[in-house]
Amino acid sequence: MINVGIIGAGRIGHVHGESISKFVKNARVKTIADPFLNDATIEWAKSLGIEKATKDYKEIINDPDIQAVLICASTDQHSKLSIEALQAGKHVFCEKPIDHDVAKIMEVLDVVKSSGKKYQVGFNRRFDHNFRAIRDAVKAGKVGKQQIIKITSRDPEPPSIDYVKVSGGIFLDMTIHDFDMVRYLSGAEVEEVYAEGSVTVDPEIGKAGDIDTAIITLKLDNGATAVIDNCRAACYGYDQRAEVFGTKGCVAISNDSDSNAVFSGENGVVAEKPMFFFLQRYMMAYAKEIDSFVEAIVNDTPTEVNGNDGLEPVLIGMAAKKSVAEHRPVTIAEIRQEIK
Ligand SMILES: NC(=O)c1ccc[n+]([C@@H]2O[C@H](COP(=O)([O-])OP(=O)(O)OC[C@H]3O[C@@H](n4cnc5c(N)ncnc54)[C@H](O)[C@@H]3O)[C@@H](O)[C@H]2O)c1
Repeated sequence: MINVGIIGAGRIGHVHGESISKFVKNARVKTIADPFLNDATIEWAKSLGIEKATKDYKEIINDPDIQAVLICASTDQHSKLSIEALQAGKHVFCEKPIDHDVAKIMEVLDVVKSSGKKYQVGFNRRFDHNFRAIRDAVKAGKVGKQQIIKITSRDPEPPSIDYVKVSGGIFLDMTIHDFDMVRYLSGAEVEEVYAEGSVTVDPEIGKAGDIDTAIITLKLDNGATAVIDNCRAACYGYDQRAEVFGTKGCVAISNDSDSNAVFSGENGVVAEKPMFFFLQRYMMAYAKEIDSFVEAIVNDTPTEVNGNDGLEPVLIGMAAKKSVAEHRPVTIAEIRQEIK
């Protein structure tokens, strides 16, 4: 049994606490820490059998009984906390993105190497049964030579403006999952990005310096082209679809719903909406990603989502941001050159 500490008890800290306690066999959450811990979170932790809830994350870092730390704090804390936990001899699972600053990501990756500890980044969609089915079909050669990859990724509602302000922008916060999906589904690397962005959901998002709607096209090093469409709000729920089209066929997934019941009547045919948001749609994917992280620790095998998988989508996100600002295609090579 691996004892886990969770640093950060916001939305995603709650998701991991819940999914580990209910679905992960070989791990238990010993402690959860958040400087803004409130009574509701203390009660929630108790109800899940979590031994300790504290305002001081050092109680996790300094606990010799805790082997692995999940970093679920706000993004600006990820690289600092990753380094601290690794240097204290913990295996680390870090939520996406590792950082907005590539130099800080590189620092983390250096410490991962020197520590010899496991490091996994929270790209949960890789563990979703639907996305994995596409990846498996592509890997088995069923679609032949890849030509077009399409990803639709729309949230049901935007996050708070306070969250938007520290999120690093839509590309590093939201689309980063889709950039990871393009790499995961294709097994290829992105070479060039062209993005168009607009504010169609909430002018406050625009005032905070961000966009809430985007179309991104990506050229891959295997010759395929990928297209991602994003929106921070979709009135019918969490819209998460993808397809890979190639010379031998096309593999596509649709949304998951609470049931597949369809009502047919004289005015038409009505099916269930997609599941509401990430908590509902990806609960089992969150459990499976931690299962996989724990297996890597127990069996001393590489993590399924490594530090480089954390870095590449950040570079793609930076290229997308620059593309919108300068209204032109931007290569990943150009971004790498800039950060040298
Ligand atoms: N993989 C996913 O599907 C997914 C989904 C949501 C969020 N996230 C990522 O998780 C991170 C948190 O997002 P969220 O939506 O939970 O945000 P949130 O604002 O709900 O929660 C963040 C929490 O971190 C706490 N915190 C800040 N500094 C801390 C510190 N030093 N020690 C301990 N706790 C600290 C805050 O008090 C807050 O409670 C972000 O990086 C986000 O990108 C990932």
